[in-house]
Amino acid sequence: MTPTPSLVIIGASGDLTRRLLMPALYRLELAGKLPPLNIVGYALEDWTPEYFRDHIEKGLLEFEKEVDLAAWAKLSRKLDYRSGDLSVEKIRALEKFTQGEASFYLALPPGVFAAAAQGLGEAGMALESGGPRRLIIEKPFGTDLKSALELQTEVSKHWKESQILRIDHFLGKETVQNLMVFRFTNTPIEHLWNNRVIEEVQITAAETLGLEGRYKYYDGAGALRDMLQNHLMQMFTLVAMEPPPIWDADVIRTHKVEVLKSVRPITPENVHDHALRGQYGGYLEEPGVPSGSRTETYAALKLYVDNWRWKGVPFYLRSGKKLGGTYTEIALKFREAPTRLFADTSQNPLEDNWLVFQIKPEETIDLILTVKKPGLELSSRHVSLHNEYEEGHESYSAYDQLLLDALEGDRTHFLRMDEVEWAWRILTPVLEAWSSGNPVLYESESSGPEELAPQGGWRPLRFVQPD
Ligand code: BG6
Repeated sequence: MTPTPSLVIIGASGDLTRRLLMPALYRLELAGKLPPLNIVGYALEDWTPEYFRDHIEKGLLEFEKEVDLAAWAKLSRKLDYRSGDLSVEKIRALEKFTQGEASFYLALPPGVFAAAAQGLGEAGMALESGGPRRLIIEKPFGTDLKSALELQTEVSKHWKESQILRIDHFLGKETVQNLMVFRFTNTPIEHLWNNRVIEEVQITAAETLGLEGRYKYYDGAGALRDMLQNHLMQMFTLVAMEPPPIWDADVIRTHKVEVLKSVRPITPENVHDHALRGQYGGYLEEPGVPSGSRTETYAALKLYVDNWRWKGVPFYLRSGKKLGGTYTEIALKFREAPTRLFADTSQNPLEDNWLVFQIKPEETIDLILTVKKPGLELSSRHVSLHNEYEEGHESYSAYDQLLLDALEGDRTHFLRMDEVEWAWRILTPVLEAWSSGNPVLYESESSGPEELAPQGGWRPLRFVQPD
């Protein structure tokens, strides 16, 4: 009989497991989508399986609006727990849970990814004689190009690239996944997706939240490493990529890497023209933040993609903490119509037209265009063709989607090493320039620093429906 597949969560006593992974597994169970699975928590804490289940249940009650007790009972029967460190001897104790197909989720601080991959490898967990073996690694993969390559060297001693699933949870978000469907199934859209029609692209991920007690990680990382290198860069590649010919994880990821390779290199001399960092006033007073910290809590980039489709179109990427809104969107601005037709009329100055994918707080698509304002005057107004993306449909969180993909071995929405590597390559001169000097200060709850703003300004940190 084929053994039941296992999901082993290494670092299962931590916040990620309780706050994101277990609620995602619970929602999959509730929806009847969870494949047969043994879930084994593994961590240093000397807990019993009962204590672990109790700990997870408390988390569900805290993070889920409502807990269906029957679904939880079903899931909790699949949960087990073993305590141990990353030594080969301890990890070997997991053998009895991992007889066949098994996925190992590293819900650990990034500093021990290499040790965990190695410990698992040396304990024989990567060997696929009984079924597929997978290693799921959270972000960040390295803290710069050098450390990412070093980490990869360690991980690849035991794990093949086809076994490694590098998570970027933005790739599990519905609207982000929809980008490919929307672009590549609608002929008119694909025809306007180029530098003849699009003048600029703005990608924003703004948060009102501050550090949320994560100062140890965040102060060492900063906004560029925490958000831009991964989440925003991923959204950028999905917007800018060429149409892949077939739905295949490697074909799609190759197309994404080509975008990164086409980015006009930032040089040490022109970092200022392409990158801006900010720090919110009061950051230095946050508990745990070292005095004089230069960590950026806001980062913006202006990138050019030097290829036939995008030459000359600036892509603006920005993300920051303690801003005036929690708002994530991808917005493409259409070029002004090349005509003087309305120049001598009382027509209002033509406003910018946009195609906007809002990702947070709502998931919507808006095509904002100009029409005549009804009435005797020849004047215009903006209207929006508006789509509530999830209307009438079950919604899943990014982790629901990605865990399911991982358990099914679908790597499409996980990062291949060259994507990680090229994203770091693009940012290397920026990281080097930012190793000295200071971020500009911005006020909490503001829209962030204005330097490096697009010519027509940044879009607001909330979606404004045209009236
Ligand atoms: C995480 C970052 O990867 O993404 C956090 O580490 C950030 O700093 C979070 O708050 C944002 O994700 P989401 O899905 O809430 O927009």
